Amino acid sequence: MRFFDPLAHTGSRAALSVVMAIVAATIAAKAPGAEEGGTTLSPRALQEIAKVEAEIDAIEARAVERLAAPPDNQIQQIELLGKLMLYDKELSVNRNEACAFCHTPETGFTGPVSELNRTTGAYPGSVRTRFSDRKPQSHAYAPLSPVLHYNPGQGDLVGGNFWDMRATGRRLGNPAAEQAQGPPTNPVEMGLPDIACAVYRASQRPYRALFESVWGAQSFAIPWPDDVEQVCNRPGPATAADPLPVHLSRIDRGRASTTFDQMAQSISGYEASAEVTSFTSKYDAVLAKKAQFTPQEQQGYDLFRGKGQCNTCHRDGGPGEDPLFTDFTASNIGTPANPRLPYYRENRPDALGYVANPEGPSFVDGGVGSFLSKVHLLSQPSAVDARWLKLAPDNQARIQVPTLRNVDKRPSSEFVKAYGHNGYFTSLKQIVHFYNTRDVLPRCRPNDAGEGTTCWPAPESTANMNTSRVGRLGLSDAEEDALVVFMQTLSDGWVH
Ligand code: HEC
Ligand code: HEC
Repeated sequence: MRFFDPLAHTGSRAALSVVMAIVAATIAAKAPGAEEGGTTLSPRALQEIAKVEAEIDAIEARAVERLAAPPDNQIQQIELLGKLMLYDKELSVNRNEACAFCHTPETGFTGPVSELNRTTGAYPGSVRTRFSDRKPQSHAYAPLSPVLHYNPGQGDLVGGNFWDMRATGRRLGNPAAEQAQGPPTNPVEMGLPDIACAVYRASQRPYRALFESVWGAQSFAIPWPDDVEQVCNRPGPATAADPLPVHLSRIDRGRASTTFDQMAQSISGYEASAEVTSFTSKYDAVLAKKAQFTPQEQQGYDLFRGKGQCNTCHRDGGPGEDPLFTDFTASNIGTPANPRLPYYRENRPDALGYVANPEGPSFVDGGVGSFLSKVHLLSQPSAVDARWLKLAPDNQARIQVPTLRNVDKRPSSEFVKAYGHNGYFTSLKQIVHFYNTRDVLPRCRPNDAGEGTTCWPAPESTANMNTSRVGRLGLSDAEEDALVVFMQTLSDGWVH
């Protein structure tokens, strides 16, 4: 119980508000095109965003060209459809944000804007002043997560997608498909007011004919109300009085829901394809005996499986088990809060009257526990199984173990990536040092220059925190470096 230190926690809250004030002052320079209220984007972030958007448009344009001569095999058609939707910014309320805005290939399908990774950790939505509460995960390998289930022997929930497992996959038999149903109507992401708007927008896209040939001519055979354009141009969430603002008959509503399911299944089909979930890292080449680790990489791998105990959660496979570098369970490793998240300040109505974070600066990410006990969630694509409510206390603050595949994949060595559910860590060395010294180094004082090297802030939450495998590993500096170098062998697209 070393970590249950209420004074340290109070200290960290005070430090949090100081840092928040600094962050507010440095990133609040008003940017052109930004809407009133909330956090605005720095000129540097806007510059990078413009580049990312151009790249997304270029990838989309190449995929659209393939529609002229689509593959003749249904699986490949589904993959192409999924790609076209994942790169389609028309599926967001302001027609400015594709899924890929937060998930691009050269970063291993996570956040593509170095400046945001370094500062806000989270990404803005289609309404650019609204930021999410978490760091984008990689969408590669996500379709290989099992449907969420409870393993009573282990006492663990296993599977699902999202940091808190809330895309369970129990309705569609596929967590990644249910995941893909979250962002379109998430008010801080793509921001549509109704899932029917995603279907309506898709019906106007160049991939409509291919979609109908794969999923059936009924897909978009929906008589849209006269006001559908206006309704779908208004950012969500919908009001409680009119939760489904695209007014459809019950049969047409059912058709729209089914088409939305098939859109999501197509997207997950693309995420599972060899183009994304590719198993083409140096690590895979070494397994196949087509390459050899350097001595330092080998040392890192040995530590990963030995003294570092990383392999107990980030599993490197076994009989009948792919090396996915996660066991799909959840743990609280004691990650500190990330005071740079703009979410802490989203407690006042924005220009459209929406409040993303009613708790404001006192928000604590409850992880899997919050999902099970149905607290305020920004998107909830899957229903909660009420029988699991009793598991909530044991899962409070637990976060799903992320895959480490592509964890170092980045476009250049200066490019900053953020790590952990809240993006607190901004380098692999830092997070390895944290695993090594969380329970050894003292708490940081407010504005402590040694933060991350000679001291650590309090955990965001100490509930269910793992103290047996994490926190005091006794690794030397060189051993920490070797672990980092080993993780660098997990980037896909490795060439000799
Ligand atoms: C504004 C940024 C943003 C956009 C746009 C976005 N995502 Fe994400 N994505 C995130 C964040 C943040 C998370 C983690 C959210 C959480 O855990 O609550 C995430 C998580 C995921 C995951 C879960 C991975 C795992 O291992 O569990 C997948 C898959 C994914 N996104 C795919 C998509 C798809 C498909 C779309 C479009 C339909 C999309 N994302 C749009 C930011 C974004
Ligand atoms: C008890 C289970 C457990 C052990 C042991 C463990 N991890 Fe983790 N790891 C996690 C969880 C859970 C997260 C997500 C933490 C969060 O978001 O707060 C994580 C996150 C990470 C991340 C960030 C990935 C990303 O995409 O954001 C890296 C890198 C990482 N771990 C590396 C390691 C290394 C290296 C070791 C061994 C020194 C290790 N882990 C040991 C459970 C574990």
